[in-house]
Amino acid sequence: MRLVRAAGRTIAICGAVAALLYVAVVLVNGTRTALSSSRAEPTLSAAERGSLVVRGRQIFRYDTFGDQTFWGGALQLHKAIEGKALGGVGSGVSPKVALAVGLKVDSAKIPRPVAAAIRAGKVNLNSPKTTLALLKLNAVVGVRGFFNGGRLSSVGITCAVCHSTVDNSFAPGIGRRLDGWPNRDLNVGAVIGLAPNKKPITDLLQVDEATVDKVLASWGPGKFDAELFLDGKAFRPDGSSAATLIPAAFGLAGVNLHTYTGWGSIPYWNAFVANLEMHGIGNFDDERLANAQQFPVAARAGFAHVRHARDLITPKLPALHMYQLSLPVPHARRVNRAAARRGKALFDGKARCAGCHMPPEFTDAGWNLHKGSEICIDDFQADRSPTLRYRTTPLRGIVAKQKGGFYHDGRFPTLRAVVDHYDTCFGLGLTGREKTDLVQYLRGL
Ligand code: HEC
Ligand code: HEC
Repeated sequence: MRLVRAAGRTIAICGAVAALLYVAVVLVNGTRTALSSSRAEPTLSAAERGSLVVRGRQIFRYDTFGDQTFWGGALQLHKAIEGKALGGVGSGVSPKVALAVGLKVDSAKIPRPVAAAIRAGKVNLNSPKTTLALLKLNAVVGVRGFFNGGRLSSVGITCAVCHSTVDNSFAPGIGRRLDGWPNRDLNVGAVIGLAPNKKPITDLLQVDEATVDKVLASWGPGKFDAELFLDGKAFRPDGSSAATLIPAAFGLAGVNLHTYTGWGSIPYWNAFVANLEMHGIGNFDDERLANAQQFPVAARAGFAHVRHARDLITPKLPALHMYQLSLPVPHARRVNRAAARRGKALFDGKARCAGCHMPPEFTDAGWNLHKGSEICIDDFQADRSPTLRYRTTPLRGIVAKQKGGFYHDGRFPTLRAVVDHYDTCFGLGLTGREKTDLVQYLRGL
């Protein structure tokens, strides 16, 4: 909450500063502005931009791109949610179970009397029936239920299931949405693991169900493996999971390449995810995925060129992009300002961080990719991307992504551990106090 309020204030201040700057620019460049506007350039009006952002929010939160044909239709997940007693299979997914696997509930979607009943302990949180009621209210963040009369006939997922969480203002796991914050509680593997029919996955990966179950169980909370469905690699050479942390979707404006390994731009990756990971219905092209040596699964499945008669994804990319760029970046309030100031001097100077994490975007200005050896790590994950490199992670809003650790696979549990790593890697000779100062600066970004 505090973070959000702080972010709101920052935006208000930034807005005011931007308005003043704008006025100043118009005053200074009065003639030039008049000249260029008379050329009637096809720019968007504020209303059009606003409506793109609003549409983008709707898409980010609620649009399945038709992926219910996969999550419900193929995997039959809706039956596992219902449970046998309601006509599905298994014991069903109660709100308690849903919250335990890290799914979140949007308190704004719960009508007041229902909220009061929950507070009074009068709502059965152990019953899948309650989950169905929440799905009907569209209150489960990133999960859409499709109903046929009273029966749950299918289920789909949206971007928000992984890239939103809630502020826990109502109860743990229940509160107001925080779009763009990675859901580091969400156990994607456990959710997919509930599917009564895993044949679509065993067929795609050409492995047996026991193997799929083992892989899904290896991910753990806050992680997903977007490359698994391209290269079939589920484990790192040391035997640990090849999954990566779910990243933030905020703080990406001005950043060139996206994902931990720089697959492409935001619109590129949005199209990639909506088509190839969520299994929405759309069109997609990436000739790099025809490389059967690097991407045997993708090449076999024809992911390099996906075509559907109806495209439910491509027309939504502009609004989705605008919304992501508009997401506020949270800031920590409890940082020691004096220490953070000293930390900034180190970041920009002695510690050499700004050489790659260039302010104010905190990624390289330009081609923001590096070999693992430049930051003293292995190239396993980099080699799973066509770039064979790691993208310099933009650092703003880092306080909202501390759970699960840092670096693509969460190998460093704390910011202090990251700083210790760079200290050794670059031979910086930082003192204990300098390290603390650097961490204070990072926390406030
Ligand atoms: C199942 C969880 C999941 C879903 C659903 C999902 N993502 Fe992601 N997203 C991830 C993971 C994991 C990565 C990191 C992938 C990598 O680096 O290999 C990622 C990466 C990203 C990035 C790059 C962030 C950066 O730092 O550059 C963006 C942008 C993004 N996702 C947007 C979206 C959008 C938009 C949607 C909906 C169309 C979506 N994601 C759906 C898990 C998910
Ligand atoms: C040579 C370029 C380079 C330099 C110099 C560099 N970094 Fe990084 N940084 C990266 C890359 C690339 C990653 C992504 C690594 C990964 O995900 O495995 C990264 C990741 C990080 C992360 C993790 C972010 C997250 O959300 O997981 C932090 C924190 C960080 N760097 C801080 C620093 C600090 C502090 C310094 C200076 C001591 C520094 N970096 C110097 C390239 C660099």
